[in-house]
Amino acid sequence: MPNQPTILVTRRLPDNVLARARRDYDARINLEDKLFDADETIRRAEGCAGLLICSTEKFPAAQLARLPASVKIIATFSVGHEHIDLEAAKKRGLVVTNTPEVLTNSTADIALLLMLGAARRAYEGERLVRTGEWKAWAPTFMLGTDVTGKRLGILGMGRIGQAVARRARGFEMEVHYANRTRLPPALEAGAIFHADANAMLPEIDFLSINSPSTPETYHWLNAERLGLMRKGAIVVNTARGNIVDDAALIAALSSGRLRAVGLDVYEGEPKLNPGYLKLANAFLMPHIGSATEGTRDAMGFRALDNLDDYFGGREPRDRLV
Ligand code: 8YV
Repeated sequence: MPNQPTILVTRRLPDNVLARARRDYDARINLEDKLFDADETIRRAEGCAGLLICSTEKFPAAQLARLPASVKIIATFSVGHEHIDLEAAKKRGLVVTNTPEVLTNSTADIALLLMLGAARRAYEGERLVRTGEWKAWAPTFMLGTDVTGKRLGILGMGRIGQAVARRARGFEMEVHYANRTRLPPALEAGAIFHADANAMLPEIDFLSINSPSTPETYHWLNAERLGLMRKGAIVVNTARGNIVDDAALIAALSSGRLRAVGLDVYEGEPKLNPGYLKLANAFLMPHIGSATEGTRDAMGFRALDNLDDYFGGREPRDRLV
């Protein structure tokens, strides 16, 4: 159709999402899905009114400054938005939107997968079966630790943290949480609030990281805080890799201070600290928190809803700036 806004879709999104993007926009789609570097992104954005990006495309202030003047809106296919400098975007008069809510459940599911996988030694078990090294059952073979009835501490009690708490209650866990603000009783649902996250650490058997990546949370889980945790505790991270100091976590896993970790995200991913690869007590997933067909469609539709709102003269529902 004529007069459709031109948008750049920087990655190959699911087919249902691309079909809608093609129907409603003059969509330039990266069908090859080869990552664009900063220069290529700028080149391809020439003449576009909107960008539909993923967290693989970084927009620090310097990159935003290079964007063609035609670009008015960046819709990111992610709830996390640390890859975009919002202050700089605002100064430039750009609208930025994200995709909250639709990935809450799938991400919380992966947090539980990581908790169970770390506690029950899923990686070791998988490996033994596949390599044929599993020879016999024995009363003391592959003993893990129970999840049921344990104390879970959630760092960051936003939508995903709350969804982790709901699932953990199904395992009869005692839920603790640390958050900037205390939740109202209906949302807290009996969870124990810690105004000081450091004070939560000695109280828990499992820590689930569900906070956004901000300058305040950078390397938050460091050697000092790991030292506050109980010996044999388990850490899971489905938020962002840079909330954890990898060297400190690897040291705590190697020394046995921590029993195990379950990680879906890594600082510098997809490259990760090679120290993790040597550890049998690290249960590692490749950033698949939101990776279900339903969720990825919903994320794409939500990003398109935001673009539709903007180009339709309405306030985008998930406007960040
Ligand atoms: C995505 C995510 O896989 O939404 C987020 O913040 O981390 C994941 O759901 C990824 O960032 C897609 O851009």
